[in-house]
Amino acid sequence: DLDDEVPTPHRIQDRNQPVPEAAAVPVDGGFTNTADSDPSLAANRDWATKITARMPECALGAELLRQSTVESADRLDTVLSAGCAAQREWAALGGAGRAAVLRIVARELERSRADLLQVMGSECGKTLDQSDPEVSEAIDFANWYAAHALELDDLDGAVAVPRRLTVVAPPWNFPVAIPTGSVLAALASGSSVVIKPAPEASRCAAVMVQALWRAGVPRDVLQLVQLDEGSLGQRLIADPRVDQVILTGGYETAELFGSFRPGLRLFAETSGKNAMVVTPSADFDLAARDLVYSAFGHAGQKCSAASLAILVGSVAESRRFRSQLLDAARALTVGDPADLRTRMGPLITPASGKLLHALTTQDDGESWLLRPERLDESGRLWTPGIKTGVRRRSPFHLTEYFGPVLGIMTADSMAEALEIQNEVAYGLTAGLHSLDHAEIAEWIDGVQAGNLYVNRHTTGALVGRQPFGGWKRSAVGAGTKAGGPSYLIGLTGWAPRPA
Ligand code: SER
Repeated sequence: DLDDEVPTPHRIQDRNQPVPEAAAVPVDGGFTNTADSDPSLAANRDWATKITARMPECALGAELLRQSTVESADRLDTVLSAGCAAQREWAALGGAGRAAVLRIVARELERSRADLLQVMGSECGKTLDQSDPEVSEAIDFANWYAAHALELDDLDGAVAVPRRLTVVAPPWNFPVAIPTGSVLAALASGSSVVIKPAPEASRCAAVMVQALWRAGVPRDVLQLVQLDEGSLGQRLIADPRVDQVILTGGYETAELFGSFRPGLRLFAETSGKNAMVVTPSADFDLAARDLVYSAFGHAGQKCSAASLAILVGSVAESRRFRSQLLDAARALTVGDPADLRTRMGPLITPASGKLLHALTTQDDGESWLLRPERLDESGRLWTPGIKTGVRRRSPFHLTEYFGPVLGIMTADSMAEALEIQNEVAYGLTAGLHSLDHAEIAEWIDGVQAGNLYVNRHTTGALVGRQPFGGWKRSAVGAGTKAGGPSYLIGLTGWAPRPA
């Protein structure tokens, strides 16, 4: 009986509150916001300790990945044909039928929380204060898209026509929430899905896919493939049986996909170079805390991270603000993601190229407020870096680095701060800390970014409350905002309702 399976009301979890500085945080600090976790602190600590103890030898997902390796064009052909054949029955369930499955998915993800946390830590170095909210976000996506699948049955004068096959190409930096959200949106819309995870996070995707299969998503309706990103990857995107692609990755990857297949229907959330503006009216305690969380959460490896702070007027000279910022950054514990105290784990790969330059070099006018330190031989583990004196139109101002380094710029006025913020080619997230209503209104009116945050960190959009998507070079193709009201309708076609 499906009704027995869905007693949990749709609930958006207010789970993204940044964790205060590490020394003051009890080890259970990251777990109080999860749906079903035991409210007793002692129980939470026990649970978390068990998970982290198992992280180093975790091999979850490895076996499915082995089975999902596609090494020939023939095998890829079989995958695509199976997906297309299975889609008719999936679509025939209607929005209500698919919503019922997604509600079960939500519960299955909750049951799989411990596995997902282990695999995110062991494969991607995600610390528990970051990975635990990510599982909650995946669950929110399941409930949200379930609710919106129901709406597809009830369009005024029209029916939504599901697409046959959707390819999902997710990133490694949110190895559970983004793949799950993208897959579930396509499934809720009535499409079959082939997911091609990022190689750095493929075991995470495998564990997620297994949870969805257990919840009742048919195996041909959701298939996982591991393949060579060169020739077979290109063949996958170019195959005419693929109706659309949901990509989260770099702007250049989106362009490449477009070149594989002119006219490709692409929903891409791409790069970001995001700034937080701080004005003299701001609450400096909160601004410093949110800036540090936005810049250094998951070691800065988020498209939504704030990698610039633009200090307006007297804030630039404020010793109080500087020392608060410095204290907050220094308090972050860097190290092993399996240690509950860790707030910054390793980079996904050793710092190289532009990121290594940003972490080790002061360009014209720049000086270190906090010099990053490399803690390991390989160059994956760095302490946070903050540089001041970043100049307008310099590489640091305009380049996405995806690492733990924050640059400070200054502006004489809000108008100048907006110019600096909008000069960047991307427009994903933007932050403001100000307690002045006129300033807030001016900023909201003038800033060019998909997601605006006032007096809050710039990462961790909440499904339903902060639908996520970019502007300018942060979005490519047809996409509207993930976790928003119109995302599913964008994934379907339309036909008149039969008389
Ligand atoms: N949704 C993520 C965030 O808001 C980024 O993809 O941080």
